[in-house]
Amino acid sequence: LRDQWNSRIGFILASIGSAVGLGNIWRFPTVTAENGGGAFLFVYLIVVLIIGVPVMIIELTLGRKSQTNVVSTFDTLTNHPFWSKIGFIGLISALVVLSFYAVIAGWVILYFFFALVGRLSLTSANDLLVFFDTMIAHPYLSTLGLIIFLTFTLLIVMTGVSKGIERFSKFSMPSVIILLIILFARTITLEGSFEGLIWFLSPRLEDVTLSVALNAIGQVFFSFSLGMGILLTYGSYLAKDTNIPSNSLIISISDVLVAILAGAIVIPALFAFNLELETGPGLIFVTIPAVFNTLPLGSLWTSVFFLLLAFAALTSSVSFLEVLTAYTVDKFKQPRKNATILATFSVFILGLPSALAAGPLDFFTVRGMNFLDLVDTFSSTVLLPLSGLLIVLFTGWVWGNKTAIKEIQQGAPAFNEENLIASLWSILVKYLIPLAILYIFITGFLAG
Ligand code: PHE
Repeated sequence: LRDQWNSRIGFILASIGSAVGLGNIWRFPTVTAENGGGAFLFVYLIVVLIIGVPVMIIELTLGRKSQTNVVSTFDTLTNHPFWSKIGFIGLISALVVLSFYAVIAGWVILYFFFALVGRLSLTSANDLLVFFDTMIAHPYLSTLGLIIFLTFTLLIVMTGVSKGIERFSKFSMPSVIILLIILFARTITLEGSFEGLIWFLSPRLEDVTLSVALNAIGQVFFSFSLGMGILLTYGSYLAKDTNIPSNSLIISISDVLVAILAGAIVIPALFAFNLELETGPGLIFVTIPAVFNTLPLGSLWTSVFFLLLAFAALTSSVSFLEVLTAYTVDKFKQPRKNATILATFSVFILGLPSALAAGPLDFFTVRGMNFLDLVDTFSSTVLLPLSGLLIVLFTGWVWGNKTAIKEIQQGAPAFNEENLIASLWSILVKYLIPLAILYIFITGFLAG
């Protein structure tokens, strides 16, 4: 029998822990700033509703039904030569995303130390930007951050699913949110920040383009941990009486709220400190210390913040590594310990070029993106939506909506074929989501 979650709340917290991470606090504000602020937020929310929540329900359901890892799930449910293999894309995506995710999380850990020793109490936002650029260009520092972060992830995953992950999530999540609320209160009283808040919240429909939509889809997949078989793997540890739709709603709403909170801090701060919208991956590494520096004991606050952010990133990276480990254990019949070490090592090797992207490898760019930006963009706008598309098509057309609804009904009796929401869900899964992803994919690419 597979390990199961110790408690309902343990599952919810671990899933929220997986969802909430650098995607909300680091990536969401950055992508929003680059994609027109409120225009992006508007599309993002629509994508959450019509793609994010339904796909989350699908992944949890597939996992609970098959009771196995992301690759075997499809093998168990069909014999078809193509469809039985689609789990591999999820597995590969998890590997690729974790490889650069761990690099950024490594910077977060380094920032904790730099803040602690007072190196971030620099006076202007510009000085902070220079500091950040210098740090990420340093080959040993970046690599060191990567190693520290992966080591922590490894240790947590090695202790097993329910013990390790549950214990961890209960403590780190609430603390991050409290600190974000304090930050918000401070930011919003800075001169010039209000204008930023308006820019962030007003849906200027005329600024919505296909590339904005593609980026919104990518961000939702990334932020909800979809398309990588993560929720699928978590679902495989679920009991049959769990209500999947309502749990999916809780996870999604929490994730969106944290992202919006982070955006409502970072974007107004961007305006208050006169930074450029295209500041890129350094955005939070500049704005957050800059805001804290306006408070007494700024460095101390900054270090606490980055420590908590590192925890939030850990609960996410733990979930990636869990997917890779679950696969290695089931497939190669390896003991859990060996499997975890093997998976971590592969991530490290793949992560190295990202760690060196702003330093020794900075000569390598494609369309102005260095290796790390490229891997980030490629995975969220190509790999994840593609994997999501296949999972949705599989559920709607191969495994079959009726079967899916039957499985969801266990634990959610109201989710039956006479129910409006279930019918709506069927239409979304069979037609609307695949068409939307395909359309935006194709036109987005043609438009370049
Ligand atoms: N959703 C996480 C975040 O927002 C990142 C993540 C993606 C975690 C995919 C697991 C799987 O940071």
